[in-house]
Amino acid sequence: METNEFDLALALLSLLDPVSPSDFVEKYFDREPFFLEGRPDKFDFLFQDKDFWSLVDNLSADQLGPKQLRATKNRLSFRSIRPDEVRPMVDQGGTICVTDIHRVHAGLWKFAEAIKHQLSYTGIVGFNCYCSGKESGLDVHFDQRAATTLQISGEKTWKYSNQPGVSYPRQNVIILKNKKPHYFTTGDSGVEEWERAKTPSDAEFREVTLKPGDLLFFPAGTWHAALSSEHSLALNLYFEHTECSTFVERVVREKFLPDEEWRKEFPMQLAQHHSPAKISSEVLQHMESRLKEGATFLKMLSTTPDSLNHIWNQMISDNIRSFIDPKQIHGPKPIITKELEPENRLIVAYRGRHRYSCRKNRWGQFLVSLYFGPKVINFPEEYYSFLARLSKVKSFRAGDCTMWGGDKMEYDWDDMKNILAILIKNYFLQFEKLS
Ligand SMILES: [Fe+2]
Repeated sequence: METNEFDLALALLSLLDPVSPSDFVEKYFDREPFFLEGRPDKFDFLFQDKDFWSLVDNLSADQLGPKQLRATKNRLSFRSIRPDEVRPMVDQGGTICVTDIHRVHAGLWKFAEAIKHQLSYTGIVGFNCYCSGKESGLDVHFDQRAATTLQISGEKTWKYSNQPGVSYPRQNVIILKNKKPHYFTTGDSGVEEWERAKTPSDAEFREVTLKPGDLLFFPAGTWHAALSSEHSLALNLYFEHTECSTFVERVVREKFLPDEEWRKEFPMQLAQHHSPAKISSEVLQHMESRLKEGATFLKMLSTTPDSLNHIWNQMISDNIRSFIDPKQIHGPKPIITKELEPENRLIVAYRGRHRYSCRKNRWGQFLVSLYFGPKVINFPEEYYSFLARLSKVKSFRAGDCTMWGGDKMEYDWDDMKNILAILIKNYFLQFEKLS
């Protein structure tokens, strides 16, 4: 069954039932591990064994991103494989990982995007998929992001600690056979004191065996290990948090983008052979000037909804790894062969979530912005009612939009025609029947 609009509106609820999404957010998310027993067919609407095998059988290697399909036999090192190697690897007891499976499965992409919008999550949300043969799994480690395991078929036993090894870590860490932690990004030499992980003792672990329909959530940095004694297929809905410095960077960039001094490269400085690298006074002066301007801006920044709405909405809307074949999400390339007439019927072609919001631009003008994926389209403020109505329909007669201004306003058809044409050109709308 294809994931439909009704499921998307209730995405979180369908995962967490009977726990309410607000309970999950307030008590568990980013706070502590959470295990939820479910009925065996709970996730059938989302993904089943047959969906995994159909995907593997129909994918060619060139449809996958680099390192997107990997396998391990020793539970430690993964290697990239071709889709035709998946079945033999599983038969030999290996574990297959399809990283970002939502980039090649439209239902999972839409679902991950819906969850992100429902939670107003500014970080990255996506799905990985793990298929294990008999007696396979992963040794004790933690990941830099929060993970939600959805057991699709078979069983897998998890050991996990209640306390994170590091809160909001910046890298994955695994405990080696010699009981020492291995830091994947920095290695031991580059690790900083705040992120040094304490090797967990066996007493710190709880254990649970997931059966089809069960869900297990770990905050980022939670120690865990997995072992399947029989076949197991599971999805991992992951949450990769945004560091606040990324948000500040976006605020500062938004402000200073019109300023040439902020757009240009740093002053050149010719390196001296065999001499220690030392910053020149010219580079230093450039840095100081920008830092002082930035500091003054941040000190004076008004933290009103008008000033921060735009960046918040953009972070929620654009921060998802894109679908590999954009036609699946955006529909076919728009073909505008005729002048838009009032009697033409249009449909909403964009298959992901969108949001709209009023905001003030840098010149103090009020705008209404439509956010979908990485795109933002701005309209004059009086089109707020039009966007409110547009977000509730799937197909409509173009001419009817002139009446979408509410009680007091009727839009001019020529203006509306331009607005609709912009939305068609940006793959948001399309003609119901292309002719
Ligand atoms: Fe993990």
